[in-house]
Amino acid sequence: MPLVLATDAQKAQRDTVTHAAWGSPLSVAQYQEREARLRAHPWCREGMNTWLWVADDGAELASCETFHTDSFLRGADGTFTQGDSYAIASVFTEDHLRGRGYATRLMDGVAAELERVAPRPHSVVLFSDVGAPLYRRSGYVDVPAWDWHLDASQVPGRRPVDSGIAETDVAAALARMQRPRAPFYLWPSASQVDWHLERERVYAELLARPRPQTCGAVVGDSTALWSMVARYGDLVVLMLDARDAADAEALLTEARRVAHRAGLQRVVWWEEAATAPLVASVPGAVRVQRDGSLPMLRPLRAGLPPALDVPFPRALWV
Ligand SMILES: CC(C)(COP(=O)(O)OP(=O)(O)OC[C@H]1O[C@@H](n2cnc3c(N)ncnc32)[C@H](O)[C@@H]1OP(=O)(O)O)[C@@H](O)C(=O)NCCC(=O)NCCS
Repeated sequence: MPLVLATDAQKAQRDTVTHAAWGSPLSVAQYQEREARLRAHPWCREGMNTWLWVADDGAELASCETFHTDSFLRGADGTFTQGDSYAIASVFTEDHLRGRGYATRLMDGVAAELERVAPRPHSVVLFSDVGAPLYRRSGYVDVPAWDWHLDASQVPGRRPVDSGIAETDVAAALARMQRPRAPFYLWPSASQVDWHLERERVYAELLARPRPQTCGAVVGDSTALWSMVARYGDLVVLMLDARDAADAEALLTEARRVAHRAGLQRVVWWEEAATAPLVASVPGAVRVQRDGSLPMLRPLRAGLPPALDVPFPRALWV
């Protein structure tokens, strides 16, 4: 079968070719270090695989990664059943091999394999940087995506929150968050959220820049988690559970303050339908169509609700 799991040596070799797509501004050696550290993270050790589509002679034609995420599906009686969903990342074909259908065959092969091995199959998601057509061929449905941007270049007026969240408190922060009221949703583990913080740590070290003082904040019953994306000068809100407009404003103002102090330019929140009306009333929040990272979902079983009804918080991005 031409679909195989990469060995550690093959993963390291793949890093040298994928650097062209995702390495900047890191050197090849720094990018290899980033990849090695991320693969060693507990979330990856638990449920990450690197897949290769190979020729008969063993030549590597295309590659991608899969990450396991828990998902929850509402049944007829209203209760939720936990299942297995997967996020696909880093789909890559070398320049001289492109346009021959290798990425498409890899995507089809991986989905078939996940259908076969998932103990409680639910879905596969991805965040496309190349638009929808390539992945639509393999059964993925795209979900129009909007972002909210808040300027962090000026210090905002302080809007008090109850407390900041330290990276050791992520599990408790997730536990106090209200789950989406959607019929199907993916929910990150504390380990998955920490993987975003590991990216932050790696970039902070490699690019010699300060890290944000906190990875989230709490006000009343509302909670936000965030992390730095140093390459773009952004603080991205990974999860936002705001119970009312005042809490949304307090949490996002705190995010801007934390971003500003870390030398970042902008706070970015990935729109979720339920919370959007609250964020819309936050002064200075601007809604923009997302550039890249288009959410797409492929069911691994019959009976999933339409992809359009699935919330995609930034914490799910890989
Ligand atoms: C995207 C990529 C994986 C496609 O690999 P491939 O083996 O050439 O894919 P296939 O031959 O199966 O399909 C090619 C299709 O992908 C589309 N595609 C490739 N790159 C694209 C891009 N940057 N924007 C939009 N579509 C793109 C092509 O238009 C082509 O469609 P067509 O056959 O209708 O002309 C490859 O171009 C690549 O590695 N790019 C750099 C890394 C990257 O951006 N990965 C995707 C991250 S979501």
